[in-house]
Amino acid sequence: MKVFISGNIAESGLKLLQAQNISITQWKESRQISAEELVKACEGQDALVSVGPNRLDAKFLEACKHLKVIALHSVGFDNLDVDAAKSIGIPVGNTPGVLSGATADTAFLLMLAVSRKAFFLNQKIRNGEWQNYEPTPELGIELNGKTLGVFGMGKIGLEMAKKCIGAYQMPVIYHNRSRNAEAEKEIGAQYVSFEALLAQSDVISVHTALTPETQNKFTLEVFKQMKPKSIFINTARGGIHNEADLQRALEDHIIWGAGLDVTNPEPMKADNPLLKMESVAVLPHIGSATEETRSAMANRVAENIIAGLKGEKLPFAVG
Ligand code: DGY
Repeated sequence: MKVFISGNIAESGLKLLQAQNISITQWKESRQISAEELVKACEGQDALVSVGPNRLDAKFLEACKHLKVIALHSVGFDNLDVDAAKSIGIPVGNTPGVLSGATADTAFLLMLAVSRKAFFLNQKIRNGEWQNYEPTPELGIELNGKTLGVFGMGKIGLEMAKKCIGAYQMPVIYHNRSRNAEAEKEIGAQYVSFEALLAQSDVISVHTALTPETQNKFTLEVFKQMKPKSIFINTARGGIHNEADLQRALEDHIIWGAGLDVTNPEPMKADNPLLKMESVAVLPHIGSATEETRSAMANRVAENIIAGLKGEKLPFAVG
């Protein structure tokens, strides 16, 4: 059996595949494989491990309907046409449950970095601009007791909320499509309407999937409903916020700061004005990028491929 892997995954996953005598071909270039190259690369393969943002749409799935299984190297599956995969009959798996801690760490890191203008001030040292000790310029804001608003209270949102409670005793409110009984019971999170989330939160952290309902959800009109001293954090998908509107909201002091691990588009260009702003911190989509988590993700990927090639139910199936 043969699998094509469209990027680098952790060694542990490769070993699991090799132990089953699955022959591996890997995309080794540093650029993302193109849609055409991906179709070509899947010719003669039995399975695909999809690494990165390639669109697995109906056209792609139709062209690759010989595949017995596709494993996404991500928990998010907004790049997949789930209905097309179902109707064509290709089982697709993802990597749930193993990246919540690491991704929530990234959201927490961004929140703290924004609140102390850390990326901006670090850049000043690199620019040779660290001069006298001065008590007042470029001050941060403290997080203790501030209200955290979670937009999308799933596993990652819950982890972020626990960290914020543990570190800063932050009361937690959230907005979801449906209520999360576990979060309400375990940490006393309070369900509120989207409008109340905007009006009451000091920090809004986005942890929802990208869907037609959440696409472009945070526009200028929405930022205008947030507190002037509030911080916007997005570690989910860049498509959930409107980046031009976010820039405007920051320039016009409609909100205080923003921390992004995901941008719109990705990659963000080096000359993006957001990168020069005092209360902004941006990371290059590294939410789950720890040795431990990437290894666990690669293992989930391998388990999905192995099961799919045996014609068994995927342990971590999408949809
Ligand atoms: C995920 O797992 O969805 C990460 O954002 C990587 O795409």
